[in-house]
Amino acid sequence: MLFPDYRPRRLRQNENFRRMIRETRLSVDDLILPLFSVEGKGVRNPIASMPGHFQLSVDNIVKEAMVARDLGIPAVMLFGIPDKKDPLATSAYAKNGIVQKTVRALKKKVKDLVVITDVCLCEYTDHGHCGVVQDGIISNDATLDLLARTALSHAEAGTDMVAPSDMMDGRVAGIRDALDENGFESTPIMSYAAKYCSAFYYPFRQAAESAPKFGDRRTYQMDPANSLEAIREVTMDVEEGADIIMVKPALACLDIIWRVREEIDLPVAAYNVSGEFAMIKAADKLGWLNGKQAMMESLIAIKRAGADMILTYFAKEAAKELNIDD
Ligand code: PBG
Repeated sequence: MLFPDYRPRRLRQNENFRRMIRETRLSVDDLILPLFSVEGKGVRNPIASMPGHFQLSVDNIVKEAMVARDLGIPAVMLFGIPDKKDPLATSAYAKNGIVQKTVRALKKKVKDLVVITDVCLCEYTDHGHCGVVQDGIISNDATLDLLARTALSHAEAGTDMVAPSDMMDGRVAGIRDALDENGFESTPIMSYAAKYCSAFYYPFRQAAESAPKFGDRRTYQMDPANSLEAIREVTMDVEEGADIIMVKPALACLDIIWRVREEIDLPVAAYNVSGEFAMIKAADKLGWLNGKQAMMESLIAIKRAGADMILTYFAKEAAKELNIDD
């Protein structure tokens, strides 16, 4: 197949040829839109580092979810920002907590949309860690019960799927047990299985007001230098009962997405995180690149690496592009 017999450019010479040999396709079916819910009415606080995204009160989340649904996006991922934080994250599992209220409103008012709820304590603890702190240490086993209670309260509010993002050991099994014991055996778990300790979560922590007040998350989130460990993490979550496994972040972990896709036969999600979104938005604003092209290239790269679905702050913009192409 050497030149001049093989000329790869023959099949690139026009868009129809290119369409015919295109190996990967992105569809609105692949997209999941993250949303941030706050207390109040009529609230729409812009998030500075995430242009086009807002902290929204329940009434506005409902509107935003309808827009997403009308664009053909099949699912949203919900994060809550409570009014009250405390050491045991009690607002995370309160019956009338912000996520629980939002889920009830979404399930009542927006038909044909999958509601996924992020299960973690960091938005609800006053210290900002994803677990219970005992003597300055994030206690794994003391956290498990609170995570299970949180997931159960989301299921009771009507969530379609829970997504634990805390990275405590054993939390998928704990959540699965709590759901099953309470009649929610049909509620799936999307686990943030290989979640790295990443600088790319920075804008999210502004949006969710969840930055740790001391230390960092390196004792529970993964070291970006490791990939075999990702396989161990993912395998554990599969054995504990996860239905979908997630790799996060996405662009900094395309090799991990590929590796997980090769080794595991469950659906794989990838989280194109806040910092990956913010970088493209910032460069576009400066005129340093074409944001729309960079967005589409990033999403197709994540898909090509092996992701079946992509959580992305670009979901609405990408859906619009894909709908135009149809
Ligand atoms: C909560 C959580 C985080 C993200 C999703 N769930 C932040 C973190 O771990 O500090 C990050 C998402 C993003 O950056 O878009 N644990």
